[in-house]
Amino acid sequence: MNRKKLIAGNWKMNGSLQANEALVRAVVAGLPAAGEGAGANVGSGADVALCVPAPYLAQVQSLVQASALDLGAQDVSVHASGAYTGEVSAAMLREFGARYVIVGHSERRQYHGETDAQVADKAKAALAAGITPIVCVGETLAEREAGQTEAVVKRQLAAVIHVNGHCISEIVVAYEPVWAIGTGRTATPEQAQQVHAVLRAQLHAASTRDDRVRILYGGSMNAANAASLLAQPDIDGGLIGGASLKSADFLQIIAAARAAAA
Ligand code: PGA
Repeated sequence: MNRKKLIAGNWKMNGSLQANEALVRAVVAGLPAAGEGAGANVGSGADVALCVPAPYLAQVQSLVQASALDLGAQDVSVHASGAYTGEVSAAMLREFGARYVIVGHSERRQYHGETDAQVADKAKAALAAGITPIVCVGETLAEREAGQTEAVVKRQLAAVIHVNGHCISEIVVAYEPVWAIGTGRTATPEQAQQVHAVLRAQLHAASTRDDRVRILYGGSMNAANAASLLAQPDIDGGLIGGASLKSADFLQIIAAARAAAA
């Protein structure tokens, strides 16, 4: 199946009202108009989303209105409402038009102690609100060097499959090797493809509709390396951190995705 590529920017804890406005306006202005350029015919091309800090959802929602950009968030509570100070529910994200939410990013697993089970519950909370969770999995450098890469990513994805069962075809997966995030050290296309194929097989065993699920690569994806990563058969897009904060770089990655889809 030819899955539509997805390029999702992960702004992390960056931005300001002023900087966001300049960045989003530049990205919107640089997107090809409908019907223009490679892959612009109906059903191909690439989806593009911006996953922004929660306080900026309203601002970016209005900035992307009437553009092809979708809005996303970076985390969600497992709870629906109540006495959970500081948490943000999926229904709240939905009210601001969030179509995606990143769950289980390695920075949340590492700095906030999120477990596989919590990540699975976050994916469930998102799905219940009609939001597509972008479920992040990935091994640390020590795990890779110990030959545990496959076991780690399979364990992380298995938890999400276990809790979400038949809804699993509604998720997006992002393979993000921790050693490649923000380091400038990208997985080679072959290294990434190898893990994506493992994840693809795992999804296939869990669902008859697995071929809908997009598996993104994340970890120092940039304008220079995007095309070769996106050319791999099981790499269906990218989760972009640093390069999503620079409109020219982000637009070049989007162009590479559109070219790969054409
Ligand atoms: P990076 O971040 O592109 O800056 O490596 C990716 C991510 O953490 O999602």
